[in-house]
Amino acid sequence: MVNGSASGPCAAGSQSLGPSPWLHRLRDGSLRLVRQLRSYYCSVRLPAFVHHRLSVFPSRCDQPVRFNLNQHVTEVSKLLERSLGEHTTLSLELASVSSTVMVDPDQINNTLLNLVINSRDAMPSGGSLKIETHDVMLDAQMAAGIPDAHAGEFVNLSVTDSGQGMAPEVLRRAVEPFFTTKESGKGTGLGLSSVYGFVRQSGGFLNITSEVGKGTSVSIFLPHAV
Ligand SMILES: Nc1ncnc2c1ncn2[C@@H]1O[C@H](COP(=O)(O)OP(=O)(O)O)[C@@H](O)[C@H]1O
Ligand SMILES: [Mg+2]
Repeated sequence: MVNGSASGPCAAGSQSLGPSPWLHRLRDGSLRLVRQLRSYYCSVRLPAFVHHRLSVFPSRCDQPVRFNLNQHVTEVSKLLERSLGEHTTLSLELASVSSTVMVDPDQINNTLLNLVINSRDAMPSGGSLKIETHDVMLDAQMAAGIPDAHAGEFVNLSVTDSGQGMAPEVLRRAVEPFFTTKESGKGTGLGLSSVYGFVRQSGGFLNITSEVGKGTSVSIFLPHAV
C-alpha cells in the first residue's frame, strides 16, 4: 500500500531507490539553483504546444496554494496525453479520497511533465502510462522502512510506465543533478533532481522502483493539507 513497488510493472525483484545520501546534504541555495534550472529545462525540453497550453495555468511563483490534486491531475492529463505518441495509452486511477495538498501548482505541472517525458523517452515504441493517486497514512514504524519517509498523512501521486526500466546503477543515480543516460542535446539530468527538490521542500518524499525490461514507477508523497 505504501510503496508503489508492491504491484504493477515493478513488482517483486525490482530495485528500489532511496535518494543518494549526498542529496540529503543539499542546502537551500543548491535547491534554489536546481529549481531555476528546472524551469529552464522545462521551457526548452517540452513540446511547444504543451508548454504553451500549460502557461494558461497562472504562474504563482512558487506560492503554495491549497488545491485538489485529483482535479488538477484530471485537467492536466488531457494536455499530457498529447505529448505521448499515438502508441502510448494514458490511464488515470485517482483513488485518493482526500487529495487536498498545499504546494505550488506550477511545481506539480513541472513534476508531471518531467515524469511523463521520461516515460515517453523510455517507451520509444509505445506502451502504457498510468497516473495514480492514493491516500497513505504512515506511522513511525512503517516510515522507518522507507528511505526518506516520515510519519504522517500523505497524498501519493505515482507515474508508472511499461518502458525499458533502469539498471540498478542507473536507478541509484537517477535523482542526481545532471545525471543522464540520454545523448547530448536530449537529456539534461535535471528532471528527477528537480522533482526530488520540490518534494523534499514540500515536506514529502519520493520513491522510485524500476526493473529492466518491465518499467518504472515514480511515486511522490505530499503531505495532506488540513
Ligand atoms: N521512466 C524512466 N524509465 C527509464 N529510465 C528513466 C526514467 N526516468 C528517468 N530515467 C533515467 O534517469 C535519468 C535521469 O532522468 P532525468 O533527471 O529526468 O534526466 P534526463 O531525462 O534529462 O536524462 C535518465 O537519463 C534515465 O536514464
Ligand atoms: Mg527527464
